[in-house]
Amino acid sequence: MQFLPWGALSTVLVGLILPGFTVAEDANSRVQIALNALQNWYNTTSGLWNTCGWWNGANCMTVIADLAAIDPFVLDTAIYVFSNTLQNAPAYNPQPGPENKVQSRYEGAANASDWLDSAYDDDMWWALAWIAAYDVTNDDTYLGLAQGIFSSLTKAWGTRCGGGGLQWSTTSSYVNAITNELFLSVAAHLANRASSESERDTYVGWAQKQWDWFAAQDFFGPDYTINDGLLENCQNNGQTVWSYNQGVILGGLVELNRAAPNDTYLESANKIAQAAIKTLSDTNMVIHDVCEPNCAPDATQFKGIFIRNLQMLQQDSPNDIYKNVMEACANSIWANDRNDQNQLGVNWAGPFSSADASTHSSALDALVAAIAV
Ligand SMILES: *[C@@H]1O[C@H](CO)[C@@H](O)[C@H](O)[C@H]1NC(C)=O
Ligand SMILES: *[C@@H]1O[C@H](CO)[C@@H](O)[C@H](O)[C@H]1NC(C)=O
Ligand SMILES: *[C@@H]1O[C@H](CO)[C@@H](O)[C@H](O)[C@H]1NC(C)=O
Repeated sequence: MQFLPWGALSTVLVGLILPGFTVAEDANSRVQIALNALQNWYNTTSGLWNTCGWWNGANCMTVIADLAAIDPFVLDTAIYVFSNTLQNAPAYNPQPGPENKVQSRYEGAANASDWLDSAYDDDMWWALAWIAAYDVTNDDTYLGLAQGIFSSLTKAWGTRCGGGGLQWSTTSSYVNAITNELFLSVAAHLANRASSESERDTYVGWAQKQWDWFAAQDFFGPDYTINDGLLENCQNNGQTVWSYNQGVILGGLVELNRAAPNDTYLESANKIAQAAIKTLSDTNMVIHDVCEPNCAPDATQFKGIFIRNLQMLQQDSPNDIYKNVMEACANSIWANDRNDQNQLGVNWAGPFSSADASTHSSALDALVAAIAV
């Protein structure tokens, strides 16, 4: 199936025809071309993307929604993906939670439990994806899914480190950064989309509780980067400073500051973002994770998540450094990390090695951020 709408195609053709203008120089054209390449992996039967996993699929959907929010040419593709994925993906949930039976496919009513796979972080990637779909469509079904997912996650609020936080999954007691950053981000997003003041207060309450807890724990290294998680004794485990752990928190704090303004939120976000850029960018301001080029299947997704959230911080607390990073990443991806099928790889500085829907959708986050700044 082809997803390139006529508007995008005509932009490409004009780009090819006008002298002195190449497609590669036009940021809007390149995202549309890259979206088309992403959709070559979209499997209409499963509602997911071939070559990447379940949680990565949530991020593929999110980047499509983020693009649709700023580029009307891709709206039809996005709307199709939301409804097809809603209908078909639950049957391919790799590890349905206790209340969810994989056999019970979607039958007319959206059910949040379809999106739970017992890994709390996975659940919340889908919550954010459905919020992004709601932002584009205003369809309450999508918001309801995110609310339902979040509601089930509040039952996982723990008691161990500092008497709070969430562990990674129903079966792992690992208290990691990503699960808790996502909980903050989902709560804060939902606060800004609440339909009543009391609902809003409830979500703000969760988001503030999560941030107060998170900031008081030992996730941060001395340079204000965030390590992967905590040891059994609740001390920092010194594990990898992954890009996405420096990212999700930014979007969470931006949304929390919108819902319940407090200068300390953006101060913290700026400190984290700047520490991350210092640690993770090369001399050309291109972001890296230490696993490159062998990051499959999870870490292939991370850098795009960082950039997506950096773009949110740029909206509310602009800084030329952030703009430069987003543009440097997007330009480098297009120039150095793309094959002849316009597929995008994991090392944004290049050279291109291989691509799948995860490396590609992650790089697409950077292309989208660069046109949103
Ligand atoms: C779509 O996904 C299903 C489930 O993973 C798989 O069996 C099928 O081969 C895929 N179809 C295509 C066209 O790739
Ligand atoms: C959602 O699905 C689960 C499992 O199939 C079921 O137990 C539950 O009642 C459903 N919830 C709603 C609101 O339909
Ligand atoms: C702002 O947030 C900080 C950190 O969470 C908190 O200590 C402070 O009391 C908050 N200020 C107000 C006015 O709520």
